[in-house]
Amino acid sequence: MMRYMIILSAIAVSALAAIAGLAQLPSGDVRAESLTVLGQQVTSEQIALGRQAYTQNCASCHGANLEGQPDWKRRLENGRMPAPPHDEDGHTWHHSDQDLFTITKLGVSGVVPGYESDMPAFGEILSDADIAAVLAFIKSTWPERQRESQARVTAKDGNGS
Ligand code: HEC
Repeated sequence: MMRYMIILSAIAVSALAAIAGLAQLPSGDVRAESLTVLGQQVTSEQIALGRQAYTQNCASCHGANLEGQPDWKRRLENGRMPAPPHDEDGHTWHHSDQDLFTITKLGVSGVVPGYESDMPAFGEILSDADIAAVLAFIKSTWPERQRESQARVTAKDGNGS
């Protein structure tokens, strides 16, 4: 019995240590194991690749720190919307993995036919794997609440797989 208690408390201590370890991660650097994208397990290599691809292809509009364009809620003079943030202040996390993938590959008109927008289609520039990596990176920066909420939207959308 005593031996049991010792084993149990050892497990409890290591579980607590694991939680403390997670809490110490700098915000915006969620462990890959806790994420999926389009129904696939995310890897840390994929997040690193996605970070690079984000910097090269998305940061010019969506911001180096995913902060979006200044005053992004106000329509531009051309009647179009500025680039929204991809962090928790924006609405990227309101969309399923599949919708984010389609928007990135085909532009917003890929999900809202006929919609005019300054968001380019990346289908000719990035491979499907690159797009998944960018999304994995973006998702890895979200706080838990946004990640969980977006996971529910994605699950309703068939997990995108
Ligand atoms: C030339 C500027 C520009 C670049 C570069 C750009 N975007 Fe966008 N993006 C926009 C604009 C503008 C919108 C808002 C479109 C609208 O609502 O009309 C947008 C919207 C989006 C949305 C929809 C967000 C939402 O909440 O509705 C996603 C997802 C997105 N972009 C992903 C990306 C990714 C990923 C990249 C890089 C691979 C990228 N964008 C590069 C301008 C850009």
